[in-house]
Amino acid sequence: MHTVVNRHYHQLNNIHIEERTLNDLKDNDVLVKVHGAALNKADLLLAMGKPFMIKLMYGLKQPKKIYPGSDFAGEVVSVGSKVTHFKPGDAVFGDLSGAGFGAFAEYLIAPESKIWFMPKGYSYLEAAAMPMAFGTAMTAIQKISDIKDKKVLVYGGSGGVGRFLVQALIYFGAKVTVVSSSKHFDDLKQLGVFDLLDYTKPDFLLPQNAYDVIFAVNGYQPLKSYAKALVRGGKCIVIGGSGKQIFGAMALGPFYGLFKHKRFSSVIASTGHETLQSITNLANQTKIDVQISQIYTLSQVNLAYKDFYEHKYTGKYLIDVQK
Ligand SMILES: NC(=O)c1ccc[n+]([C@@H]2O[C@H](COP(=O)([O-])OP(=O)(O)OC[C@H]3O[C@@H](n4cnc5c(N)ncnc54)[C@H](OP(=O)(O)O)[C@@H]3O)[C@@H](O)[C@H]2O)c1
Repeated sequence: MHTVVNRHYHQLNNIHIEERTLNDLKDNDVLVKVHGAALNKADLLLAMGKPFMIKLMYGLKQPKKIYPGSDFAGEVVSVGSKVTHFKPGDAVFGDLSGAGFGAFAEYLIAPESKIWFMPKGYSYLEAAAMPMAFGTAMTAIQKISDIKDKKVLVYGGSGGVGRFLVQALIYFGAKVTVVSSSKHFDDLKQLGVFDLLDYTKPDFLLPQNAYDVIFAVNGYQPLKSYAKALVRGGKCIVIGGSGKQIFGAMALGPFYGLFKHKRFSSVIASTGHETLQSITNLANQTKIDVQISQIYTLSQVNLAYKDFYEHKYTGKYLIDVQK
């Protein structure tokens, strides 16, 4: 079968396709015929070997995991002897970032714990767009006990994670304000966003004492600025953005909780059964809009990486694997 291979950091041009024979199925494994796969920022960072932490984790000089790809959706072909949930023919989706990668391929082997049933009424490509980005959004929302009627700010809410987060928050009854550039405003209004703030304006400032919850998805604000934007007792969940923002929340978050009555925490998503199940349940209850920017074939994956690196399009970059 054909699979995408990457043996070097920072050489998107050299990402290519090779023949690979998969290992035998272990007892808890599932063999999946992949129909759709999606690129995430994490896949790009892995291909670039940046930040340095990536090299510490995945190989100093060259990637140890040479078969890339995290998010996928496809059809179960066969299952190991101890697999309980799935049978051949089931439509499933998942994220292999915690299980050795390898989703950019015609077939993959996933541990049963890393896949779940796709939501109904969605194409394989739409489902492939969901696991990592939507899973991160659901993990972040689960950190707030009751989101209904809360005033919520999503900082950087127009991208992969942000759009799923915004839709889920609105479904759960939050009053959502989004910070993004104005090119996304029409799209975000259609999703039901209450208010929009443009971070590119020279006079852009966050309102003070305005939000019960802030999700910091992208960009950068000093923690002090998020703390001022929160009401007393408010909570800021840091999902992504600049390294300074992420590590700032980890290092200084407890200080704000103790002395300022504003709590900070961060999210590290791991897309297992529980998270995938929460996506499927929500996407079955309400139509989730998946913004597809471009669809590539497996042999065009290096182009997909390059376009993604250059921020060429808005929305998810998807791979129609069987095309
Ligand atoms: N914690 C976890 O487990 C986890 C999991 C997945 C992803 N992440 C992180 O989450 C972040 C978002 O990922 P993603 O997949 O959603 O990325 P993405 O699809 O590239 O989206 C980025 C969005 O952020 C907006 N943005 C860029 N610069 C901004 C700024 N200075 N201020 C406000 N908004 C800005 C962009 O909007 P414009 O076009 O308007 O600039 C774009 O829509 C990344 O840092 C990623 O590493 C974390």
